[in-house]
Amino acid sequence: MSYWDERYRATTPEERSWTEPSPTSTLEILDRLDLAPDAPVVDVGGGASRLVDALLERGFSDLTVLDLAESALAEARARLGAAAGRVTWVGADVTAWEPGRTYALWHDRAVFHFLVEPSARAAYRERLEGATVPGSYAVLATFAPDGPDTCSGLPVTRWAPAELAAEIGDAFEPLLEGRREHVTPWGSTQPFTWLVARRR
Ligand SMILES: C[S@@+](CC[C@H](N)C(=O)[O-])C[C@H]1O[C@@H](n2cnc3c(N)ncnc32)[C@H](O)[C@@H]1O
Repeated sequence: MSYWDERYRATTPEERSWTEPSPTSTLEILDRLDLAPDAPVVDVGGGASRLVDALLERGFSDLTVLDLAESALAEARARLGAAAGRVTWVGADVTAWEPGRTYALWHDRAVFHFLVEPSARAAYRERLEGATVPGSYAVLATFAPDGPDTCSGLPVTRWAPAELAAEIGDAFEPLLEGRREHVTPWGSTQPFTWLVARRR
């Protein structure tokens, strides 16, 4: 069983630092993008996030959630009940994934920062480019430079907006960037960098 599978199995949502009751920052960003409800969306490393619930509620009809941890996907499916059948669930490592199709929105909250090796980030970029087309959006959220240097017991790379945009590469034009403080279920704050970029 993978590290992440074990993390999900051993904890409730309230015991995970990354849990948010509602994906407010992402939904605020979506309000600013011109995405039709049938636009294909992938939540990379979505885990058991409630973003998929919120997107279904908003009428999005082509949703994919990818995560290494099958237990996280199972938790999200159980929560959604019958509505889970309207979502494509992919158990995969994003750095090795063969998407086989493209998306209008690639969303990643708190996954890219675990890729501390340049080779892993290069593999991620390759998947990101392979899974998007000109006009597609990429939304990434990582720990900010003054954020924690580990997450869930693993080392992370912290990113400032300009560095993150440069790392994603020239194929993407940065559109919006910002800083948000995530409040963990036990009340501590974690500064995040958010980046919204559009595929050139
Ligand atoms: C900090 S959690 C964030 C989960 C979710 N994005 C959210 O905002 O609630 C990180 C997630 O990334 C997943 N993950 C870590 N490395 C991954 C990889 N290489 N490929 C796919 N998923 C990965 C973990 O299983 C976990 O669900």
